[in-house]
Amino acid sequence: MVRRLMERLRGLRKVAPRLLRPANVKADRAKISVAQLGHRFSNKVVALQDVNLNVRSGEFVCLLGPSGCGKSTLLYALAGHVTPTGGTVAIDGKAIQGPGPDRLLMFQEAALFPWLTVRGNITFALGARGVPRSERRERADIFIQRVRLEGFADSLPHELSGGMKMRASLARALAVDPTVLLMDEPFGALDAQTRVHMQEMLQAIWLRSGKTVVFVTHDVQEALMLGTRVVLMAPRPGRVVEDLEIHLPMPRSLEDPSLDAMARDIRHRLRAGEVSPLEAQHLEPVPRRTQTPSSLPRPSVMTGR
Ligand SMILES: Nc1ncnc2c1ncn2[C@@H]1O[C@H](COP(=O)(O)OP(=O)(O)OP(=O)(O)O)[C@@H](O)[C@H]1O
Ligand SMILES: [Mg+2]
Repeated sequence: MVRRLMERLRGLRKVAPRLLRPANVKADRAKISVAQLGHRFSNKVVALQDVNLNVRSGEFVCLLGPSGCGKSTLLYALAGHVTPTGGTVAIDGKAIQGPGPDRLLMFQEAALFPWLTVRGNITFALGARGVPRSERRERADIFIQRVRLEGFADSLPHELSGGMKMRASLARALAVDPTVLLMDEPFGALDAQTRVHMQEMLQAIWLRSGKTVVFVTHDVQEALMLGTRVVLMAPRPGRVVEDLEIHLPMPRSLEDPSLDAMARDIRHRLRAGEVSPLEAQHLEPVPRRTQTPSSLPRPSVMTGR
């Protein structure tokens, strides 16, 4: 019994490296290309330093890392809401100058107009994008159906649950048809069960839409459930420590033991990455027993389920 358990654990340890492999996307093949990106806020905080990231068209890339590692800053630079202080960000080979209709940014809050119905929120967004009035209602209803909100098209946001509001927001995002979806912890405020439903729905929609998604999370399991790739980031200064492809078929299940094995591996890599280059210099020559608590890697703040 114990021997069988040990064999199983040994087997799982081998699974993670096989399923997580370093990504290697060349800039000339990329839909999104980030090169030597740096951002320093006016308060001198270095939110990003020398970030390089190439994303292929149709990939689902999760940015994963502890609070303050620059995930949102990187996402906002892609959205064109933050003008980085160094480096370049390009989509389809063109430098990003500001927000554009090819990209759509979604947050934790559903951000619906409270005085408009679900359908009204979507048709309003379509109108703002120049879709002719005659097409708006039909298009809105297609996406209301896709997020399974039939029967709630005429409801106001305050009549919906948190998960339903997020589905309405997702329907609006998909209806305006951006090629790139940028999502900043969109399910962070939802309860665990609703969150899993939203993840399944987003994955199903992504599989059929072929959109390029950059999804910020600090939940390891969420990244492993959704991503074709996971980009691990670390703070002080905000940087990318690893960029890994996830070779596990979709749809995935939280009960899959290889997902657990990967999660352990990722947490380990994140803890290693949390030691800043400056701290690492101090760490290496110092014998283990004389290390001060402050020079040791801090405990990870990753969410674990
Ligand atoms: N507008 C701002 N002005 C000054 N500093 C900022 C600003 N926005 C973010 N920062 C700082 O930049 C760093 C990166 O912030 P960012 O919001 O990108 O992190 P994050 O990884 O998204 O964190 P979280 O998981 O908490 O959302 C942090 O140290 C933060 O305090
Ligand atoms: Mg953030």
